[in-house]
Amino acid sequence: MSWHHMPCCEAAAPATRGIAALGARTVRVRRHRGGSPVRDKDMNNMQTGSTPQDDRTGDSVLGGLGAQAHGASGGLLPVWMHDGANRVEHVLARVLCAEHDGETGLMAAMRYATLQGGKRTRALLCLAAGTLAGAPAHMLEDVGAAIEMMHACTLVHDDLPAMDDDVLRRGLPTVHVKFGEATAILVGDALQAHAFLTLASLDAPGDSRIALVRELAQAVSAEGAAGGQAKDLSLVGKHVELDRIVAMHQMKSGALVRASVRMGALCAVADNAAHAALYCALDHYSACFGLALQVIDDILDVTADTATLGKTPGKDAAAQKPTCASIMGLQAARQFALDLLRDAAESIAPLGPRAERLAQLLKRANAYLFKHAPCA
Ligand code: IPE
Ligand code: IPE
Ligand code: MG
Ligand code: MG
Ligand code: MG
Repeated sequence: MSWHHMPCCEAAAPATRGIAALGARTVRVRRHRGGSPVRDKDMNNMQTGSTPQDDRTGDSVLGGLGAQAHGASGGLLPVWMHDGANRVEHVLARVLCAEHDGETGLMAAMRYATLQGGKRTRALLCLAAGTLAGAPAHMLEDVGAAIEMMHACTLVHDDLPAMDDDVLRRGLPTVHVKFGEATAILVGDALQAHAFLTLASLDAPGDSRIALVRELAQAVSAEGAAGGQAKDLSLVGKHVELDRIVAMHQMKSGALVRASVRMGALCAVADNAAHAALYCALDHYSACFGLALQVIDDILDVTADTATLGKTPGKDAAAQKPTCASIMGLQAARQFALDLLRDAAESIAPLGPRAERLAQLLKRANAYLFKHAPCA
């Protein structure tokens, strides 16, 4: 029984359904618990960020994670993250081949949008989940590259004057600033097409390729990122309840994060019921993580500087966007993000050491939050 043939499992629910109660559930989660469910033995390689002040917040699991990230310093990523990102970038460079550029320079603009930085979180989630599930590395690298192309497409379009009108992305002028608005629109279109081409060209059975295409398409559909972006624009200037912000975040960015994990697991051949529990754990992990990433993004838009973000800070307030930070206040939003990361950690804790890489990605996000949005 594979994931895409598993109608009874919560993990098979559409990306925006099972999570409907997540915001409320997570807001309610207990504030003070002892003991980290996340193994800490590899913390010596983690990107660091917490401060002694953070350690005194006393929020067990994530305070603990931050403290250990800080204590083990070095500022380096775990080797697998570094190698995984490099391997995915090699696929990107091959797929977006400069030699195929015609006189228009469209491919050069696509390479600019895709190959110039980025934390590669979604590709790494795909690699970590897929490796855990037993998928072949070469397939995960191709799928990770497809996901990163789709992610880059959403960023290029998000930055357009008609959307967020941003001039800086990944520390560089945005694609429309550098190449013009028409080219930026076409870059997004073509990146999306190349993402699906990459999945369709995988050396894998037809039903696996179809399942992967469906996952990615659903994640950016009207029920996913595109729908979430429409909600984002429709809420400008409005004061709305938190649950509407959460629903928007789950769609506009959470759905692709969730798909990244699901697609990694889909690359594995899974024929027994034991995998049902794995998929459910992964799905909850990715739903929590995806929402946390956007909440953190909202917070850092307020607290971080241009050099840290590689984009212009303060844009959400300037554009009158309701965000978790503006609705909840910075400290409550920060706690919300920590709760979500902790929930994600707890959902994979029963998987034991094989979920270590997924845990490390949580720790990286946690350290990033501690470093750039320290506790008041
Ligand atoms: C930015 O995503 C947009 C959001 C969904 C918050 P990332 O923060 O993952 O951006 P890159 O890929 O590292 O640039
Ligand atoms: C956009 O959210 C999420 C996407 C679907 C790209 P934001 O608009 O907050 O992302 P940034 O801050 O520009 O990266
Ligand atoms: Mg936006
Ligand atoms: Mg934006
Ligand atoms: Mg943002």
